[in-house]
Amino acid sequence: MKFDEIYSLVGHVPYITKDHGKYLYTMILEQKLTDILELGIAHGTATCFMAAALQELGRGCVTAVDLIDVNFQPTAEAQLKKAGLEAYAKVVRMKSGYTWFLHDEIARRTKDDKCEEAYDLCIIDGPKNWTIDGAAFFMADKLLRKNGWMIFDDYDWTYASVSRDGDSTDGISHRTMSESEMKTPQVREVFQLLVKQHPNYGTLRVMNESWGMAQKTLTPDKNYTVAFERTTKDLFAKVVTGIYRRIRS
Ligand SMILES: C[S@@+](CC[C@H](N)C(=O)[O-])C[C@H]1O[C@@H](n2cnc3c(N)ncnc32)[C@H](O)[C@@H]1O
Repeated sequence: MKFDEIYSLVGHVPYITKDHGKYLYTMILEQKLTDILELGIAHGTATCFMAAALQELGRGCVTAVDLIDVNFQPTAEAQLKKAGLEAYAKVVRMKSGYTWFLHDEIARRTKDDKCEEAYDLCIIDGPKNWTIDGAAFFMADKLLRKNGWMIFDDYDWTYASVSRDGDSTDGISHRTMSESEMKTPQVREVFQLLVKQHPNYGTLRVMNESWGMAQKTLTPDKNYTVAFERTTKDLFAKVVTGIYRRIRS
């Protein structure tokens, strides 16, 4: 399915912007990325963009993981069905979260103490939390193929940006956090302190303050770039998404 067609079907549903959706769609087609892991899916809008690219390629699957106890309407399953893309995505719902899904995947794919690398692209877009997403990175790395990509969304998000008294985000209570944990973008810390320093990752990019991307090059060379292409549309999309998240929480 062409990008404009899938965008006309699901593009009005949060959370991914049109630019990021098109970026993923194009990347999948150009690099022929067929096995994709999406951790944190909400309404499955990004899932649909990626599944549409796989349909265009004629093969592949997005394994899309989220929690059981969430109520995003429309659901990811309904959006995939509406777009006729169910054959290119598998939605997995976990009771406690995606780190246990990663446990199951690593356990299932391990033979003779070696884990099979099975994915070309992994998007980490869940609770934006140092502990959960830091652990998810090391686990997902075991499953990522050479030259595969890891993408982290919400690079600059902080708990402080959404906090009201007694709040929790994705089941994590703000009350248990120090001021530093509240004010520090935790995905940025995962990217800068764990991913960027990891010997497997050679090409690293920060894009528009919202994505950190890293390629598993398995070489000692490091290439780190920061690209800010702030358009009025980006800023508008960020404000609208922020308001939407606040209303939902
Ligand atoms: C920002 S949304 C994902 C948006 C989606 N990737 C897109 O671009 O359309 C974050 C999602 O992460 C999920 N999530 C949060 N913590 C999680 C966890 N520990 N395990 C699995 N999913 C989680 C939430 O339920 C929510 O659906």
